[in-house]
Amino acid sequence: MSFETYWRAARFLLFPLAIVGCCMLLAHATDSADIHDHLHHRHFAEFAKVPEKARIRVNPLEADPDAPLAGRKLFAQHCAECHGASAEGRRKAPSLHAEEVQAATPGTLFWVLTNGVVRRGMPVWSKLPEPQRWQIVSFLKSLPATAGTGAHASHDEPGSHMEH
Ligand code: HEC
Repeated sequence: MSFETYWRAARFLLFPLAIVGCCMLLAHATDSADIHDHLHHRHFAEFAKVPEKARIRVNPLEADPDAPLAGRKLFAQHCAECHGASAEGRRKAPSLHAEEVQAATPGTLFWVLTNGVVRRGMPVWSKLPEPQRWQIVSFLKSLPATAGTGAHASHDEPGSHMEH
């Protein structure tokens, strides 16, 4: 069979196949875009719901040089079991080095601590006195921002990242 005849026959097969293939690719691409979107928006969605008045609240301990350290201790006590010793994130809870957290206002973080995201497993911390909540906010703001890749800060406690 000459190349031409062969090609003419092949085209009849290839053309529909190509169309089906394209459709499958497209469908797949849309699917994974949806899934990606879903994952990306799962955490930190709460930030968008914080009322303006709460969002713009200033951290009264902003200028207190001891606040981040005090917050770090409180974090180890209350938050590390879910978010990891240096807030790097665990299977249970997201990294708080994430850009979303670092870009959030102190008032936003304070509001999230006060109200929790209970239906998603983030407890309410209104039982912690306000100054302690602000200390934790100071600590969170002192973290190095990453794209949420879970990079470990150099101030890890010895061995804290061994326990994954
Ligand atoms: C029982 C586990 C648990 C503990 C303890 C915990 N968290 Fe969370 N936290 C979560 C989970 C789960 C999420 C993700 C919620 C979501 O998907 O929106 C979260 C989310 C967050 C967020 C982002 C808010 C959002 O909308 O996702 C911040 C900020 C945060 N936690 C700070 C803290 C701090 C500070 C403490 C300690 C005072 C703490 N968490 C203690 C489980 C926990």
